[in-house]
Formats: sequence, C-alpha cells, structure tokens
Amino acid sequence: MSKTSTLSLTEGPNATRVVGFGSAQGNRVVTNDDLARIVDTNDEWIQQRVGIVSRRLGEDDQTVVSMAVEAGSKALADAGLSPAEVDQVIIATCTMPGPIPNAAAQVADRIGIKASGAFDLNAACAGFCYALNTASDFIRAGSARNVLVIGAERFQEWLDWQDRANCIIFADGAGAAVVSPAEQPSIGPATLGSAGDMVDTIYLRENRYIYQEGQTVFRWATSEVAPVATRAVERAGLRLSDVDVLVAHQANLRIVEAIARKLQNQGARDDLVVARDIVHSGNTSAASIPLAIDHMRSAGEVNSGDVLLLVGFGAGLSYAGQVIICP
Ligand code: UT7
Repeated sequence: MSKTSTLSLTEGPNATRVVGFGSAQGNRVVTNDDLARIVDTNDEWIQQRVGIVSRRLGEDDQTVVSMAVEAGSKALADAGLSPAEVDQVIIATCTMPGPIPNAAAQVADRIGIKASGAFDLNAACAGFCYALNTASDFIRAGSARNVLVIGAERFQEWLDWQDRANCIIFADGAGAAVVSPAEQPSIGPATLGSAGDMVDTIYLRENRYIYQEGQTVFRWATSEVAPVATRAVERAGLRLSDVDVLVAHQANLRIVEAIARKLQNQGARDDLVVARDIVHSGNTSAASIPLAIDHMRSAGEVNSGDVLLLVGFGAGLSYAGQVIICP
C-alpha cells in the first residue's frame, strides 16, 4: 500500500509592484564614426537603418556580473530596501562567459544579499520580461518576499568585429528592478510565447560569434510583436488608450517605431511616449528594457503612476510582454 502524505503550501500576497529601478553601462562611448574606422560602414547607414548614434561598451573589468552589481545596488537604493530584505536574485542574460558559474549567486554575494535564492534565466532579448514575471509569480506564491531582477549583457566578446551587420548593433549594459508585494496590482499578467521554428534566424556560429538573419527577424518583429503587446494590455484589464509609455526591446529603432505605429492604429494615443534609448545605448538585449526605463525616469520622461507597456523579443525566438505601473 502506498503512503499518502500531505504537504503544506505557502501563500503570498495577491499583488506585486516594481519599487525601484537602476542601471549601469559600459564606460566607453563608441560612435558610428569609430566603427567606420574598423569595418566598412558609415554613420548615415547606421542611423537610417538601425537608429543608433552611439553605443556603450564595457572596459575590460566591466563584466556581466560587475554591471549587474552596479545596476542592482542602484535599484535597491531607489527602492529604499537593504540587501538583507532581498530573498531572491534573478539575472536575465545570454552573454555570461560560460554556462557555469551563473551570474546571480555572485551578484547577490557582491551586493551583500546573503544566501538568497539565485539563478540566471536565458530568454535572450526577452529575458527581462520573463524574469519580471517570474519574480512577480514567486512573490504571489509565497516563494519570495522581495526579488531583485536584473537584465545584464556584455556583448563585445560575442561579436565578430569584421561583421558589419552585427557589430554595429549590440552593446553592453545592465538594468535592474526590485519587485515587492503590493496592495493593488502594479505588474500585470505576462503574455509569454515562442516561435522555435525560427531558431535558425539568430544563433551563435561555431566560432561563437552572433549571427542574425536580419531581414527575416525584422519582418517577424514588425508583424508579430504588436499583437503580443496588445494581449498584455488586455490581460491587465486595460485598453491601449490607457498606456502612457511603450518600452519595447531596443532591437532597432525602425522596429520600435513600427510597433508603436501599429499600436496607435489600434487605439493607442497619439501622445504615447515611446522609448528610444537605443539611440545612445545600442541594443543591450535583456538589459535594454530596464535600462530604457531607468534613463527615462531620470530624464523626467516617465513619471510615477504612468502605465508602461513592456515587450521583449529575440533569439529562440522567445517573446514576452506585460504592463507595469511606474514607481
Ligand atoms: O535583438 C534581437 C532581435 N534582433 C532584431 O530584431 C534585428 C532585426 N533586424 C534588423 O534590425 C536589421 O535587419 C539589421 C539592422 C540587422 C540589418 O538591416 P537591414 O536594413 O535589414 O539591412 P540588410 O541586412 O538587408 O542589408 C542591406 C544592405 C546590404 O548590402 P547589399 O547586399 O544591398 O549591397 C548589406 O551588405 O546593407 C549592407 N549592410 C551595411 N552597409 C553599411 C549591412 N550592414 C551594413 C553596415 N553598414 N553596418
């Protein structure tokens, strides 16, 4: 006869919110003219086709871990929380030097968060939205109380600096958010999905450098991402006209603007604020969404109480979107 045991379950609060943001970037500002000195490209092509004016790359000592530590520490300070109050650290990244060790345990230790749960999550450029959803669900299930979520990437070692189609796009940086329990929901349900049949459109070549079938991904992103964003708004019980700010993954300014236009054709407001952080940050993959929000908050372009629509998409292909209320 088999034994039957009953286990206790934890229960958490019904609602969560982001209570602080922070970011870090590589110290080196690299302009399009700088790149034109090492590869056959020019400022006009890059600005017209991708929208980047300059990007930031890390110095030798600015690793995924060190930039995540800087961004995470700033987010905790912004939230007014001490490291001791955090019990889970999630790092969204796809550019650690190798699969082990993970970044999260090191980041937690260096910030002074002792023995917290710590793991990395890889959904490429959609990673931050997945990690934010995971953090929110952990808290609502009673698995954690305050979660530090960080998107952090150092792309420069994964780029062939003779491949003009890719080396002009990607950059280094980190963006962090602190997620906590709330009285009222300020993080909406996520729309999560994938298109694994398109796995061959973004991958690492055998020489470990990134490859993209640029036009295929471009067409996919400009047609498939806006509906993901719309579903996230519906799942949060809002209408597109309620959205104040669109923060799409900063893949290419033309993609960001195409998504914004589609949403505006379907009811988003003409005065929708659109994150265009790629112009001076480049494409920082999992870091791009929190990096953009942190910069926009500092610049006064996003205010407390604003309805933010986040949508990430990239290699996998994996995508995710959710609505949050800005702290
Ligand atoms: O973040 C993860 C998700 N990724 C994305 O969402 C990326 C989506 N794709 C894109 O953003 C764009 O496809 C790229 C930025 C990657 C490329 O832009 P494109 O407008 O699709 O250019 P293309 O690849 O079709 O190339 C057009 C021309 C080609 O020359 P020919 O064959 O027409 O003579 C390229 O060789 O532009 C050339 N080209 C360049 N010229 C100057 C490609 N890269 C460069 C460059 N400078 N850096």
